[in-house]
Amino acid sequence: MLDKKLVGSYKDYLKKNLSKKRYNHSINVAAEAVKLADKYDADRDKCYLAGLLHDIAKELDTQSQLSFVNNSQLDVCEIEKKSSPLYHAVAGAEMIQDLFGIKDNEIIRAIRYHTVARAQMSKTEQIIYLADLISVDRDYKDVKRMRKYAYQSLEKAMYEALKFSVGDSVKKGNTIPVSTVEAYNEFCSYEKDLRKE
Ligand SMILES: [Fe+2]
Ligand SMILES: [Fe+2]
Repeated sequence: MLDKKLVGSYKDYLKKNLSKKRYNHSINVAAEAVKLADKYDADRDKCYLAGLLHDIAKELDTQSQLSFVNNSQLDVCEIEKKSSPLYHAVAGAEMIQDLFGIKDNEIIRAIRYHTVARAQMSKTEQIIYLADLISVDRDYKDVKRMRKYAYQSLEKAMYEALKFSVGDSVKKGNTIPVSTVEAYNEFCSYEKDLRKE
């Protein structure tokens, strides 16, 4: 059971350090993550906390985010180290440990990989990755399709999301973090096997 006081203190921190828009996004991602946790029989408290805190570092100045990345014991590839929009995931995973003493690896990894994904993602990690893409405040072109996939199958939704992400990076001539390519390959093989059945 979640400690209401503790959750309240996390929300207070987010309210003080995030824009109203991003604070609402965090609340929405937490709510979506709980819905997915119920659907897929995952730990709803961990999903709630990871969803709530996933963007905790997003509005920290880039230099501070990078300093978290550079001092982190977490695995971060060189490509990711050169892409500032990705820093907040590693920085966030470090911040929740430093600020709140959260030591749960499921929560730490779900926040750390919510931007780039990885192979061998846990259910919680997949849920946070997808909840971030389909929360009620999202309104990009294919969001309805992504929402449908997310409630059909986590793996199918991860495959579709990564296919889009990798394809988009290639189209724009951007580099792709190693863990994203590994995640794509894994979910792609899963999808191929399904098609064979
Ligand atoms: Fe994020
Ligand atoms: Fe987010």
